[in-house]
Amino acid sequence: MNVHSEMAELLDGRQKFFTLPQRLYNDPAFFAIEIDGIFKRRWLFAGVVAQIPKPGDFFTVPVGPSSILVVRDRSGEIRAFHNTCRHRGSTLCEAEQGRVSSIVCPYHLWTYDLTGKLRSAKGMHDDFDRSEYSLLPVHIETAGSTIYVCLADDPPDFSVFKATLAPYLASHELEKGKLAHIVHVPVAGNWKLVVENSRECFHCPTGHPELARSFITVYRQPYPQSMKGLEALWQRCAAAGMTYGDSGRQDSGYRIERLPLRPGCRSITMDGIPAVTRRLGQVPDGDFGTIAWSYTPTSFNQVVSDYAFHARMLPIGPEQSLLSGYWIVDADAVEGRDYNLANLIKVWDETNLQDRDLIERNQRGVNSAGYRPGPYSQESEMGVVNFVDWYCEMMSKYLGGPERRVLRTA
Ligand code: FES
Ligand code: FE
Repeated sequence: MNVHSEMAELLDGRQKFFTLPQRLYNDPAFFAIEIDGIFKRRWLFAGVVAQIPKPGDFFTVPVGPSSILVVRDRSGEIRAFHNTCRHRGSTLCEAEQGRVSSIVCPYHLWTYDLTGKLRSAKGMHDDFDRSEYSLLPVHIETAGSTIYVCLADDPPDFSVFKATLAPYLASHELEKGKLAHIVHVPVAGNWKLVVENSRECFHCPTGHPELARSFITVYRQPYPQSMKGLEALWQRCAAAGMTYGDSGRQDSGYRIERLPLRPGCRSITMDGIPAVTRRLGQVPDGDFGTIAWSYTPTSFNQVVSDYAFHARMLPIGPEQSLLSGYWIVDADAVEGRDYNLANLIKVWDETNLQDRDLIERNQRGVNSAGYRPGPYSQESEMGVVNFVDWYCEMMSKYLGGPERRVLRTA
């Protein structure tokens, strides 16, 4: 049996409402298939607009064995390319981010402009045609402060998600926001364990004492209607003309919702008091909870009145992921005057590190001989159930679906 058939068989045989079979969390061959079946087809959260405010600013995005280069060109347009030289394939930019006037490959100095055109290739033969060796472009989209890339030749539709998100964020004006802080946390865990961990707050009361101060950590069914304070929050939003409600289940690939914070809290901070005195954009004064959204499988986000927190989750290897955090504040907010950086980042910084430790411990246990798929709570872990169902459906479709597989082997 080849590895595709082995993976298909495991997916077909998995038990709904249970964690996945061990090999799906650590097998290098399965990981490679997931990169092709999911990460080369989905829109991926790559970074934020505020990371690259000036022409020549760039950042790199690792996706399994691949690297994507996102750069702002001289006209102000944001572009994305495969971070691979068209000469002999060297990686162009190794840094996580930086600024360049042109993109120069360090190997033999082929030089590309910021639109990806090859401008200089010294020592090549006379009839060498530079125009045939531009950098390979990657599709790019923005939504609020966030940048998404897609490695597919023919990317899936992004417009419905973008249009659904836009009214929630209208008054926050995140596209003009300033990057207050960025952090990258390598995690020794499979990307699905990272996503699973992000889709429940079952672990929050004990795992995230700082987050639990302002964030409601009890997710009961029916969700989110059972959340205390939801009705009152939605009424306040309606009165202020702000978008609220729930965009729908995660099995559509994304979910956007406005959720209440703990009583008396107006931001996700250690004391529930906004960390930034200047609210984002045109957000009115008041308690409008948090806008929570996730775009499967690479991002989750929380937007309160004074800042946005974007989390990026990328697959690096079968047991290696990269968790990155971005804090966006109002464009005119000044550190030291309008906010104290340590206070602003405290909750999510601690939460990221706690999640890393939880995920790595989860991976070690899953790798152990005693691991057997275990039951998710259908009360508190339905977000994880939805993600795992989404994953199995994506992979099953990619591998041909049970019916087609039967026909193929018949
Ligand atoms: Fe880039 Fe040779 S591999 S210049
Ligand atoms: Fe967590």
